[in-house]
Amino acid sequence: MVFFLLFLPASFGDASYSIPEEMKRGSVIGNIAKDLGLDEQSLSVRKARIDAGGSRRCYCDINLNSGDLIVSDRIDREALCGQKASCALKCELVLENPLEIHRILIHINDINDNSPQFDNDVIKLEITESADKGFRFPLDEAHDADIGLNAVQSYTLQRNDNFVLALHSNADGGKYGELVLEKELDREDKQEFTLLLTVADGGTPMKTGTVVIHVIVLDANDNIPLFSQAVYEVSLPENSPLDTVVVSVSAADADEGANGAVTYDFARVSGEVDKLFSLNRKEGEIRLKGLIDFEEESNYEIRIQAKDGSGLSSYAKLIIEITDVNDNAPEIFLKSLKNPISESAIPGTEVGIINVQDKDSGANQQVRCSIQQNVPFKLVPSIKNYYSLVTTGELDRELVSDYNITITAVDEGSPPLSSSKTVQLSVSDVNDNSPAFDQQSYSAYVTENNKPGTSVISVRSRDPDWRQNGTVFYSLLSSEVSGVPVSSFLSINGDTGVIHSVRSFDYEQFRSFKVQVVARDNGSPPLSSNVTVSVFITDENDNSPQILYPAPLGNSMMTEMVPKAAHAGSLVSKVIAVDADSGQNAWLSYQILKSTDPGLFTIGLHSGEIRAQRDIAESDTMKQNLVVSVKDNGQPSLSTTCAVYLLISDNLAEVPELKDMSYEENSSKLTSYLIIALVSVSTFFLTFIILIVVVKFCRRRKPRLLFDGAVAIPGAYFPPNYADVDGAGTLRSSYNYDTYLTTGSRTSDFKFVRSFNDGTLPADQTLKRSPQETRELGETTENGSKFSTLVKLPL
Ligand SMILES: *[C@@H]1O[C@H](CO)[C@@H](O)[C@H](O)[C@H]1NC(C)=O
Ligand SMILES: *[C@@H]1O[C@H](CO)[C@@H](O)[C@H](O)[C@H]1NC(C)=O
Ligand SMILES: *[C@@H]1O[C@H](CO)[C@@H](O)[C@H](O)[C@H]1NC(C)=O
Repeated sequence: MVFFLLFLPASFGDASYSIPEEMKRGSVIGNIAKDLGLDEQSLSVRKARIDAGGSRRCYCDINLNSGDLIVSDRIDREALCGQKASCALKCELVLENPLEIHRILIHINDINDNSPQFDNDVIKLEITESADKGFRFPLDEAHDADIGLNAVQSYTLQRNDNFVLALHSNADGGKYGELVLEKELDREDKQEFTLLLTVADGGTPMKTGTVVIHVIVLDANDNIPLFSQAVYEVSLPENSPLDTVVVSVSAADADEGANGAVTYDFARVSGEVDKLFSLNRKEGEIRLKGLIDFEEESNYEIRIQAKDGSGLSSYAKLIIEITDVNDNAPEIFLKSLKNPISESAIPGTEVGIINVQDKDSGANQQVRCSIQQNVPFKLVPSIKNYYSLVTTGELDRELVSDYNITITAVDEGSPPLSSSKTVQLSVSDVNDNSPAFDQQSYSAYVTENNKPGTSVISVRSRDPDWRQNGTVFYSLLSSEVSGVPVSSFLSINGDTGVIHSVRSFDYEQFRSFKVQVVARDNGSPPLSSNVTVSVFITDENDNSPQILYPAPLGNSMMTEMVPKAAHAGSLVSKVIAVDADSGQNAWLSYQILKSTDPGLFTIGLHSGEIRAQRDIAESDTMKQNLVVSVKDNGQPSLSTTCAVYLLISDNLAEVPELKDMSYEENSSKLTSYLIIALVSVSTFFLTFIILIVVVKFCRRRKPRLLFDGAVAIPGAYFPPNYADVDGAGTLRSSYNYDTYLTTGSRTSDFKFVRSFNDGTLPADQTLKRSPQETRELGETTENGSKFSTLVKLPL
């Protein structure tokens, strides 16, 4: 109003109009000429025009012909006046000639040409699900460019479960809505939803606008994690490899984000479980971390906790049943053992007790026990897992002295496991074997004249028993050989069984004897066996031939008469010799060493017969002396010589020098008594020989029989048997000297070694001595002559 007053000092009358906005161009507002009382015709003359006056633009013009005020441009009230309650255009009508100015006031009225509008198409609301009922959420206000009734009048909310709308007015009159929570939200039920909010103005027709309310329900940690199972039951074989997945637990949390992020953990577990199992905190996967042994623990119960980000948690139980695997071999325990066991144990004797154990369970624990086949033992099942080891047969330590008994235990798992144990069992000895000699009998050959103490033979006996039960001692069974205790002939080394001679043997005395050797072990009671040892004494050439005829010393007056008429080849005499040895050692040969007339007589090499080699001639010397050597065939050979005196004569009276002759080579110191005795014997012999010669001449074919039972042999010991000396013209086995032997008539034929003890070793039973004889014996040995002939005449 102040503006109008100041600017319109020269105005003449005013026109006022009221029009709605948005009229078409050319629309008549009013007849201004008429309203102002102006002449229509003068308008153009007076150059009537509309001036903007106070406004910048006027939007209207004048029709000069009709005087109508018309709309010249689009009039938008909202653009001109905005939210002002009244809106008017102030224009002036200017007339010239004379100048006239009329004020025109045009009121612009609002029409409902604008819809209410929200600033955004979408209203985003984030509401936590934990919001309580009645909670309010103010919404943006909608705007309408129109004013008054045409402005925002009401809001309507799309029907929904959770919200209602409350309307409010601002202090400035603006209207806005508020969402009121009528029912609590559940994000887990509906995470978001959209609501359409419609706003309406009061115009006619009414205009509306809409906006989408996008409600996002924000999570609140209102859910606990939930396990898929309350109890997880799994079975796991023992000895499963490390890192084996045992089970995967899972818990779901309906919340989102951190509120729904579940982590797993063991709840209140023992340190042992912690060592064996590992839990992946995020995945809930439980893996094996240590070695599971059924025999230690057969099941595990673990509580598992699931926890979300803000600490809500729940629990589940995990039961792990460990299944048995046949991983333990049976064990064998030797509870008792009778070691050593006597070889005399009867079959069925209990030797030991064995116990088997297997730590596994079920079939894996069932154990069968056995031992190897080739031993005389068996296992007898006893109570529970006990077995007795008993013998099944006789034991013989000498065959098998110890046994390695292998006990094998096998369980029934699959695959089965087995173990074995070796029991060493020895068999103790019982003296059940007697010593056994290597041979059934022994023969020993000893050469006579052996040195005492030489070993004769060695016997051996074996006893397979143990130690003293098998230690053999040898001894000679006391017996007598020809009345003399055998111990004076032989001795035996008790340990070695070597038999020694105690004395020197004489083949000529006895040729063999037998002795029993006993082998005895040292057991108690001892066992023994015996064997016969035959000792054969072999001959040695230790006897020189002994001349029986003629008397060897030649100190007799023995002279053969040779008839002068003897022809060549006629038997003149015979040298008779014997040898106490046997065999070759007694095989005698005769030889003439020296003769008065070589060539007149020969001697049979083996017969000893002296024969004329040629006819005796008248010219031949009457006295013929021959020296004959008799030699045996031993190695070395021994020989003896003798002299044979021959007298070629038909008549004894023709021999005047007989006496001289008889003393020719006499070096003896014998008394005349002895000489006479010798002569007597010689004569006796001579007569005999002549007789023999005569008989031989007559019966030449049977010369051997001539001597039977008819020869007296002075002073010699002869072995009882002369069988070996059988030969041409010599003596026969049946030749019996004893007939002519007196108690004293013998020579010291024995050659005792220096150590010989007369008391302990009597020579022979047949040689009983009187003290006198012993003296004589001494004399002869002193002489050193091997054959001293001590002759006592048989009276
Ligand atoms: C028994 O075993 C031991 C040692 O293992 C061995 O020396 C012995 O010869 C064995 N005996 C038998 C009879 O096999
Ligand atoms: C010998 O045998 C007897 C039984 O005959 C026995 O008692 C003893 O122990 C045995 N000796 C040895 C050394 O074996
Ligand atoms: C010698 O052995 C035999 C059987 O071998 C026996 O009959 C005899 O009695 C034994 N003699 C002695 C003296 O032991």
